Amino acid sequence: MKRSMPIQDLLELGLRRLMQATVVGGLVLAAVVPAGSDAQERVLNLYSARHYQTDEALYADFTKQTGIKINRIELGDEPLLQRLRTEGAASPADVVLLVDAARLWRAQIEGLFQPVQSKVLNERIPANLRSNDGTWYGFSSRARVIVYDKARVKPEDVDTYEKLADPKNKGRVCTRSGSHPYMLSLIGSLLERLGPEKTEEWARGMVANMARPPRGGDTDQIKGVASGECGVALTNTYYWVRLVRSEDPTDKAIVSKVGFIWPNQATTGTHMNISGGGVAKNAPHQANAVAFLEYLTSPKAQSYFADGNNEWPVVKGAVTDNKALSALGTPRMEDVPISTIGKNQIAAQRILDRVGYR
Ligand SMILES: [Fe+2]
Repeated sequence: MKRSMPIQDLLELGLRRLMQATVVGGLVLAAVVPAGSDAQERVLNLYSARHYQTDEALYADFTKQTGIKINRIELGDEPLLQRLRTEGAASPADVVLLVDAARLWRAQIEGLFQPVQSKVLNERIPANLRSNDGTWYGFSSRARVIVYDKARVKPEDVDTYEKLADPKNKGRVCTRSGSHPYMLSLIGSLLERLGPEKTEEWARGMVANMARPPRGGDTDQIKGVASGECGVALTNTYYWVRLVRSEDPTDKAIVSKVGFIWPNQATTGTHMNISGGGVAKNAPHQANAVAFLEYLTSPKAQSYFADGNNEWPVVKGAVTDNKALSALGTPRMEDVPISTIGKNQIAAQRILDRVGYR
């Protein structure tokens, strides 16, 4: 005859079974929804300062491959950083993309990124194009080059950054604002190479040589050269290549009047910069954020940077069909570390303020 269990034992057994069921249930649940909200929400909140229409293809392809939907906020560099500061711990940002080493460095020191440990990122992105603490990674690169009016300027008078500040180029120089990250980074590189006194002298020479007060973006400088208002100007390479690839007759006319120079080929090499990003400090979808950064190093994404926005891929072996970009060749590039350029931007801004380079 079956002995009946004391009520205490029955209760204990019941409790144990209940706990086992909970644990099993928990495990099953964990297998379906492994990483908190990441798997429940196939979403990535992207804060981007990249302002290139061709990036649409990049984002669409990521969603196609992973099923992760991208919510995108696009802002200028500084407003974007300001928004992250204001949102603080409540920020929904998962990934932050910025377009210059100066800004990446600023976001890093302000603690707006969280460090990422990723074998894929560390293997694919060269060490000199990422931060040393895993907070940000460069995904594409660009160079700051010189364009000049072929009708009235001799290329040998403007083939280095230093020569643009020479008195012989008085009244010829057009430039965007000195405080723009692209300029701050260039001046940060000059600071590293020339030291503070010579860099300040250079900035003073630039102000003295200006054909007009700083205004507009890089494309406006190229147009200024074509119209004859400017003799010489600085631009990032992708703006130039965009015009070269354009079928628009107006753009073709501009390109026909403007000469292109790789600066400092006989000396220190051309100034390089990167566009890059990292995982936001309080990313709600951390795993999706890492997946996105890793996707940006894939062969397909790398070729989008080149074919879409005329930037150079940073991953070794990436291929591009962009003939206009390839036609620029492989010039001598400067070897100033990207992180040093970022760090120098405060000193660069002080110089600009002192010499009145707006
Ligand atoms: Fe740009």
